[in-house]
Amino acid sequence: MSNFLSSSIGKKTVMALTGLFLCVFLVEHLYGNLLLYANDGGAAFIEYSHTLVHSILIRSIEVVLFIAIIVHVVQAVYLTKQNSDARPVKYSVNKVNETSTWFSRNMGITGSFILFFIVVHLYHYFVPYRIMDTVGGPGQINVAQAVKIGLQDPVYAGFYFFSVCLLAFHLNHGFQGAFQTLGLSNKRYAPFLKMAGTGFAVLMFVGFASFPVLFYFGLAGGTF
Ligand code: HEM
Repeated sequence: MSNFLSSSIGKKTVMALTGLFLCVFLVEHLYGNLLLYANDGGAAFIEYSHTLVHSILIRSIEVVLFIAIIVHVVQAVYLTKQNSDARPVKYSVNKVNETSTWFSRNMGITGSFILFFIVVHLYHYFVPYRIMDTVGGPGQINVAQAVKIGLQDPVYAGFYFFSVCLLAFHLNHGFQGAFQTLGLSNKRYAPFLKMAGTGFAVLMFVGFASFPVLFYFGLAGGTF
């Protein structure tokens, strides 16, 4: 087992499994955020956030999620280094451009930016609500209002939007790549998986990008 995990294919497998787990998390996270559009003064979103904090099951999944992100990032660093060590002389730029896109060759760059976004995002929402207790208590703003205030800041809204664009490119290549890594793709299924990956990336883009756009332009959150 430890030989497998330290081998190149073992690292790629871990990368694929953690990547797909993070994709499941994205779907769940998007569902939660969409409650912000319920037109109920933020009640459904507040209730949902409250459930997340008070469910022992969700708290445990949260720990797994943090571990998955760390493992995904650590393996990404190893694999990116391994790939560049194995290829000390860069390919001729034209040939590489013909067979792959910039985004598929630079998952490390899009991933690093996503990591930066995750850290800033946690600092913005997780820390005040879950650690500092400055949001959601009596006499304080609630979580829905905290989201709205954050996304009305042009710098944060722009940063959020740009990060979601990079996430979409990461997913567009990563989603189908994960199935290939796990040996679940072949010549017949590959075009379907490619389409599914692009569909998933577009769905995540439209869903998550809607928050900075609609809140920044005052088209959402009118009731809280
Ligand atoms: C919610 C966040 C993220 C999701 C959903 C996600 C998803 C994925 C998926 C599904 C793959 C494909 C795995 C494979 O090819 O087998 C992947 C690959 C990759 N990810 Fe992420 N990822 C996320 C965050 C990150 C972060 C924070 C980094 C930080 C460096 C990163 C770096 C990479 C790299 C370098 C690869 C390519 C590995 C390789 O094939 O050589 N990802 N990601």
